[in-house]
Amino acid sequence: MIIAVDGPVAAGKGTLARRIAKKYSLKYLDTGALYRAVGLKLLKSGQDPTDPVAAVAAARQVGDISPDDPALRDEKTGEAASIVAANEGVRAKLLQYQRDFAKRAGGAVLDGRDIGTVVCPDADVKLFVTASAEVRARRRFDELTGKGTATTYEAVLEDLRLRDARDSSRGAAPLKKALDAHLLDTSKLDIEAALDAACRIIDAAHKGP
Ligand code: CDP
Repeated sequence: MIIAVDGPVAAGKGTLARRIAKKYSLKYLDTGALYRAVGLKLLKSGQDPTDPVAAVAAARQVGDISPDDPALRDEKTGEAASIVAANEGVRAKLLQYQRDFAKRAGGAVLDGRDIGTVVCPDADVKLFVTASAEVRARRRFDELTGKGTATTYEAVLEDLRLRDARDSSRGAAPLKKALDAHLLDTSKLDIEAALDAACRIIDAAHKGP
């Protein structure tokens, strides 16, 4: 079984996708981490994420960044990721890896922006996870301040709106709900309630009509 989980910044995709993978014994891939690794590679070498040639070269060396590098989760890395993610050459470099991962025996859950639309258009179940911008900004603000990052709610909300706009308006694999994706609005749901709602959708889809 392949499950695609897409949605905007800080919608809770990662936590939800991890919990789904655990519950159904599937492998999990955080595809945002691949774009973050490309962005971080550029930042670390003092290069500009808007430079298309440097970005494609960094995508070739994505394995140089450790998946455990805490800088991957920094807001400036997320911003750089969103810039390189608009580059078609970068997306093409990362596509095959994601498709190969999805096809691994035993099934997989992938979360990102274009899993249901581009990476796995034939996924067995597609979820589009969202929440209001204010709720998402509050969650990201709590996450950042919990890690000791100095920021304000207003600054987080502004960054989030900017990244949403860039992710949705780009020409290459923009963030959008696949026609056959199930919309899951988590504005009023905690993680347990969101997981329950997701499992109901997955179980119903798995049993067939
Ligand atoms: O965790 P958060 O929602 O902040 O972002 P992420 O999932 O780690 O993704 C970081 C950036 O990578 C996003 O803003 C997207 O621009 C890009 N991305 C993408 O274009 N396609 C994907 N499948 C996953 C991420």
